[in-house]
Amino acid sequence: MHPLVNIGVKAARKAGALMINSLNREAPLEVFSKGPHDYVTQVDRDVEACIIDVIHKAYPHHAILGEESGHSGDNDICWIIDPIDGTTNAIHGFPHYAVSIAVRMGNDVSHAIIYDPLRDELFTASKGAGAYLNQRRIRVPNQVRLSDALIGTGFPFKDMRHLDAYLRIFKELCPAAAGIRRAGAATLDLAYVAAGRLDGFFEFGLQPWDFAAGNLLVSEAGGFVTDFKGGNDFSHGNILAGSGRVHKELLVLIQQQLRS
Ligand code: IPD
Ligand code: CA
Ligand code: CA
Repeated sequence: MHPLVNIGVKAARKAGALMINSLNREAPLEVFSKGPHDYVTQVDRDVEACIIDVIHKAYPHHAILGEESGHSGDNDICWIIDPIDGTTNAIHGFPHYAVSIAVRMGNDVSHAIIYDPLRDELFTASKGAGAYLNQRRIRVPNQVRLSDALIGTGFPFKDMRHLDAYLRIFKELCPAAAGIRRAGAATLDLAYVAAGRLDGFFEFGLQPWDFAAGNLLVSEAGGFVTDFKGGNDFSHGNILAGSGRVHKELLVLIQQQLRS
């Protein structure tokens, strides 16, 4: 394992343990609102601080882009952190959330770590070196057609500007795919595409910490990740991932609905 991944894994496992301990307490979680349908708890903040602490002990000068603490440091190497992806699930005791850590070197994400503490599942990837689940290589199966595909998605529950377009896509997709899931943690949706548990995934308006690690996992597992135009401009956070065939069919469907 690359030394940067080792540190990322150490941080993710420590964060996972803290998450489970803090979320399992009897006392109700204090929930703060960051915006419409966007919540944060003290646990999110503590978990992010714990991850940054592990990283900075090993690499004091590396930059950080954390969902809760923002951007800090001036270095070519930047750690992109989502301390709890799936906060709304965690708040409600819905057992599906994860920690996501990506290492960006210059403009490229080079390493990815996604850890699901409830299932003790560790997804890792390094550019050019493949994707792994608990140290076993994972590959996207490329023969599935959209009609046989299980598709993951995220509803546009924060930014309603995307709702009409989303509903047009959803209406076409329901009869076209084998099934659609909305589990509430985009990083795990992408990790599941990499592991072949989902055949595709799409969501409007994600943030870098939601997709930085997951995108690398999918491409290192042999899948495709693009924006909704089929390119790689992720500045709007529109993410479409999937195995070759499913990605292609989904892209056509999404583009038709975005034009209509
Ligand atoms: C959210 C989750 C969710 C997605 C949202 C994200 P958070 O992240 O990934 O699945 O639909 O767009 O913001 O807020 O739980 O870290
Ligand atoms: Ca997130
Ligand atoms: Ca989060």
